[in-house]
Amino acid sequence: MNLKDAITKRRSVRSYAYQPIAKETIEEILAAGVQAPSSCNTQPWHIYAVTNKEKIAAIAETCPHGKFGAECGLLLVCAQNEDRACRRFGGEYDTRFPNQDMGACIQNMLLSATEHNLASCWIGLFDEKLVRAQTGMTENHTPVAILCIGTGNDGDKPKARRLPLEEVTTWVE
Ligand SMILES: Cc1cc2nc3c(=O)[nH]c(=O)nc-3n(C[C@H](O)[C@H](O)[C@H](O)COP(=O)(O)O)c2cc1C
Repeated sequence: MNLKDAITKRRSVRSYAYQPIAKETIEEILAAGVQAPSSCNTQPWHIYAVTNKEKIAAIAETCPHGKFGAECGLLLVCAQNEDRACRRFGGEYDTRFPNQDMGACIQNMLLSATEHNLASCWIGLFDEKLVRAQTGMTENHTPVAILCIGTGNDGDKPKARRLPLEEVTTWVE
């Protein structure tokens, strides 16, 4: 699958039929994540790859808009390593830079999952305490997002509508 196809094909899938995912596939998805750019190459990401079905279900259960994740084969809990986050510019950049780094890493992993014909969904709301407990997350890591990845089970739903380019673009020539 070429990049354009992966970008176009990726959509949020909110129904899964449980199937485990091969470790090599998971490793390729993770490897795509760490190829992302980051502020001053700080690479602040740390990904907890959850493959244990009971843990997947326990984590998904606490996501107000992500309970469907209980049936996916993989949860990627994307955490920010606070020791590596770029804080050298101060002020608003202290959050702005690491936020952008994490987003780039996350999108790379979603596109890689799509390339592997796996369905996915980015989950932003979760119970931080429970996620920490279920993953054994260290204190210096902060969970920022959870990615549900697995075998989709929602047929061929169309992708959510996009605003026309003219509405979101200003040409400065
Ligand atoms: C930061 C962020 C948080 C999100 N959180 C959730 C969520 O908790 N539950 C969910 O079902 N979708 C969530 N989404 C997915 C968006 O709803 C989805 O990307 C958007 O509706 C566009 O649809 P598409 O991904 O199919 O293109 C989140 C997306 C982002 C970027």
